[in-house]
Amino acid sequence: MPVISGKAPGKIILFGEHAVVYGHPAIAIPVNKVKATAHVFPSIGTPPGAIRIQAPDIELDADVTNLPQDHPLASAVRLTLAAVEISQPPSLNIQIASSIPLAAGMGSSAAISVAICRGLSAFLGHPLTNPQINQIAFEVEKIHHGTPSGIDNHVIAYEQPIYFIKDEPVELLTIKTSTHWVIADSGEKTPTRETVADVRKRYLAEPQHYQALFEAIGSVTERARLALSEGDLPALGILMKENQALLEALDVSSTRLENLIHAANTAGALGAKLSGGGRGGNMIALAPPDQTDNIVQALKDAGAVHTITTRLNQSEGA
Ligand code: MEV
Repeated sequence: MPVISGKAPGKIILFGEHAVVYGHPAIAIPVNKVKATAHVFPSIGTPPGAIRIQAPDIELDADVTNLPQDHPLASAVRLTLAAVEISQPPSLNIQIASSIPLAAGMGSSAAISVAICRGLSAFLGHPLTNPQINQIAFEVEKIHHGTPSGIDNHVIAYEQPIYFIKDEPVELLTIKTSTHWVIADSGEKTPTRETVADVRKRYLAEPQHYQALFEAIGSVTERARLALSEGDLPALGILMKENQALLEALDVSSTRLENLIHAANTAGALGAKLSGGGRGGNMIALAPPDQTDNIVQALKDAGAVHTITTRLNQSEGA
């Protein structure tokens, strides 16, 4: 039997992180230059039904039955087996490889879940649909992040730019003009679970103040959706700066991120902000195409440990 590989891209949030957990809209796009892959292949000479999962990046090499019930990767496997209604699978190996930086706001956990569901369900001859894969990845995100909004699993499972409101049907975005983005890693690793939990603590202590900040972020996101649909890039850049100021007010930024944001804006970005959970991880800059190289260089000079450029293409027929 051949090796079957399930793949999933990374993601960045353009607008609305954190506020999205409280019911406000957010915008996210897939990043195809980084990806998670689950290679699934038969295992010879092991007891029937044994599923060995290997993820060298997190030093995991174990039989799924020996992992705790709430282990995220084992849960992705168990939920996939339940969805395809196979209780006695053949013995197999699942090898995970990922170029998505961990704990850096690029959706590595959701991408690994999606890759496992895709690869394993296809290997078992019952490929799951994107909505089914999305649902499983959301269940696993709850183990990782406690109270996720669901935006990461949606953008990664559907591999499309999305406008997302928690618990509402996802909307695909209309993009009037292609845009170029530079993503830079601050090198600081902060799990999303921590920043989301910290924002919740602050919100519970001062609900009115935080509700007002979330509403302001939601309004920036609405205006950004309009700017994307009209191809108004200068307006989009200004909205990124507004969103960053609100994220600073939420206290999820960091000095390193702010140095990178300043460097990108000085080098000609139309706007820049942190992306994802914050307090480290990645920032993004909206780059005029002729300034992309300058911005990448300025970010490296300012201490970025890694940069990625990505293009958000105009929607068909827009
Ligand atoms: C994480 O990529 C985005 C957050 O808004 C958390 C979430 O939406 O679950 C910080």
